[in-house]
Amino acid sequence: MTSTLTLRRPDDWHLHLRDGDALRAVVAASARQFARAIVMPNLKPPVTTPAAARAYHGRILQALAQARAAGEIDALAAAEFQPLMTLYLTDNTPAADIVQAHAEGLVKGVKLYPAGATTNSDAGVTDIARVRGALEAMQRCGLPLLVHGEVTDADIDLFDRERVFIDRVLMPMRRDFPGLKVVFEHITTREAAQYVAQADELTAATITAHHLLYNRNALFIGGVRPHWYCLPVLKREQHRQALMAAATGGHPRFFLGTDSAPHARHLKEHACGCAGCYTAPHALELYASAFEAAGALDRFEAFASLNGPAFYGLPANERTITLRRETWTIPESLPFGADAIVPLAGGESIGWRLGD
Ligand code: DOR
Ligand code: ZN
Repeated sequence: MTSTLTLRRPDDWHLHLRDGDALRAVVAASARQFARAIVMPNLKPPVTTPAAARAYHGRILQALAQARAAGEIDALAAAEFQPLMTLYLTDNTPAADIVQAHAEGLVKGVKLYPAGATTNSDAGVTDIARVRGALEAMQRCGLPLLVHGEVTDADIDLFDRERVFIDRVLMPMRRDFPGLKVVFEHITTREAAQYVAQADELTAATITAHHLLYNRNALFIGGVRPHWYCLPVLKREQHRQALMAAATGGHPRFFLGTDSAPHARHLKEHACGCAGCYTAPHALELYASAFEAAGALDRFEAFASLNGPAFYGLPANERTITLRRETWTIPESLPFGADAIVPLAGGESIGWRLGD
């Protein structure tokens, strides 16, 4: 049995870093684990313009410098971490903003939130017909569209919203914009995995650690467990198995995206708790456990460190990281500005640990 696992430094192709004190509290955790991260734009207010993306990029680097000065992260990891920025697509995003963002180079993707689908998505897209100009501009310059793939109709069962999105939104959009690069983010269903596996080379998907490790039972074991609540919500076991097969099967267009989505403890443990699992501090350990359970540790590096850069047209990272086999306990709670945050599976033990 291998006792260490060395791979090229991975990247996180879907991450929520928040802003202000929350950003300061979480950014080091991601920079310790990952060299680069695609940073989601669903702040309040959302990051809708190239100027806002540039300013947010600056605040992320500043928070990282503060974490470094406080001794929370080593100098090399702090210096290397690259936030890859995204723009939040609205019904009114001008094509000129897309062209400008692409030309400036900081923005690596444009995020499509169907309006009302998830946290801070109210300013999102109400109808694909309204964003045709922006999608055409993206198709022309090769900037990927990052899709939260759920319909928002109240009459569609919550557990069916991703599957229905494929038929109603994704397939027509792919027909209309065949040259558009699309990342189907945080897929949760067999149907989404099949769609991406059969699509052409311009379509990819990210998969979270929690959707690989848990099915929807995790939400209810012994009572309601809000720290397992995210969107798209965990699905049945057959879907988890399909995601495991996709992630570990060697297909080049499935790659790592944690969707680590920090919320303060009191906003999760609440009568109307926020959606999002905080996995950044131990994301690689969670993923390694999933790959090991599938007997596929030999495929982990491609999923975590090679497939994402290849799709985004970026070089793979040069340095390596090493995970070692060690059983340790995930902290039950971590500081989060003036609040506390509960990492996913806090208090449980895990069999891999990232080396220093
Ligand atoms: O669970 C989620 N949390 N899903 C999302 O799409 C958004 C995210 C957040 O921002 O909290
Ligand atoms: Zn997300």
